[in-house]
Amino acid sequence: MSLTRVAHAGVGGWGKNVVRVVGELAELTWICDTDEERLTDYAGRYPHARTTRSFDECLGDDVEAVVVATPVPTHYELAKKALAAGKHVFVEKPPAMRAVEMEELVSLAEERNLVLMPGHLLLYHPGLRAVKELVDSGSLGEVACVYGNRQNLGVIRSNENALWSLGVHDLSVILWLLGEEPSEAVAHGTDFLQDGIEDVVFCFLRFPSGRIAHMHLSWLDPHKMRKMTVVGREKMVVFDDMELERKVTVYEKAPWEPASSYGEWRTRTGDIFSPKIANDEPLKLELQHFLRLVAEGPGDHREAHDGLAVVRALDRLTTSLRTGAPA
Ligand SMILES: NC(=O)c1ccc[n+]([C@@H]2O[C@H](COP(=O)([O-])OP(=O)(O)OC[C@H]3O[C@@H](n4cnc5c(N)ncnc54)[C@H](O)[C@@H]3O)[C@@H](O)[C@H]2O)c1
Repeated sequence: MSLTRVAHAGVGGWGKNVVRVVGELAELTWICDTDEERLTDYAGRYPHARTTRSFDECLGDDVEAVVVATPVPTHYELAKKALAAGKHVFVEKPPAMRAVEMEELVSLAEERNLVLMPGHLLLYHPGLRAVKELVDSGSLGEVACVYGNRQNLGVIRSNENALWSLGVHDLSVILWLLGEEPSEAVAHGTDFLQDGIEDVVFCFLRFPSGRIAHMHLSWLDPHKMRKMTVVGREKMVVFDDMELERKVTVYEKAPWEPASSYGEWRTRTGDIFSPKIANDEPLKLELQHFLRLVAEGPGDHREAHDGLAVVRALDRLTTSLRTGAPA
């Protein structure tokens, strides 16, 4: 089977990882970056790919799919151009900075039956796949709440705040685990370092089912944390991406109301164990999924709609952050 012909845009800090994997899995036809020096470097590394500073030049007949790993404010325009040119699109997170823009991208992809896949990397992490299986199988019991911790001293970005830069990861996971969109979104935060760019943000979400979620997102913190906790009525599970071996820990801990006591709850504690998690690279699994969709068709456009739900929630959290009221 011939390899998918892909144009890749953006070979910066993260884009260099993405282009490496694209080069392994597909035919890298074009590499595009507005930075001449980076482009020259990549021309040497991938002599079979053409290089350009103009995104438009990548959208010719020799390209089936486009991968966008440029800064966030450029995503919407570049993804729109690529879809309008009839290309399947993988776009780093978040694909747009406003829900209306994301709605437009999803409509365009649906009208043209093209793949539009946002880079929700964590949904392809084998550890979080294991957490999703635990939630879906019912073995945690009824899920009550989920909370994410994504804190680190840096990388402090200046073209997006901590909510958009970090929150997009946790939100994509929370909405995927719970399978519903929030009915209430509250965010509080402050711009300690750069005017108008919140670096510490606390978010609260309430869902129609009654379940709740929380996210602590920060570039101003002593801890480096990449953690997601799911509290079920029967068991609880923690995903910790900073752990090398014990990425997932299941706690057989639960509240327990013995029949013989008078309204007094006790707790039940059992085993604490860590299932074996495959060491597969999430980025490779993610791009393999994109190329599979390109080969087989976008189906019900689930990935694009997941992206829309995440941007919609980010949009509402931003409204709450700015107004101080729930959105
Ligand atoms: N999935 C993840 O875990 C993860 C991690 C980090 C970053 N990201 C995402 O990856 C994207 C890129 O982040 P980064 O850290 O590589 O940014 P970066 O600023 O380091 O690099 C961006 C690159 O894009 C180039 N560029 C800018 N505008 C362009 C245009 N119009 N056309 C072509 N090239 C252009 C720049 O010259 C630069 O080389 C962002 O959307 C970010 O949110 C994802």
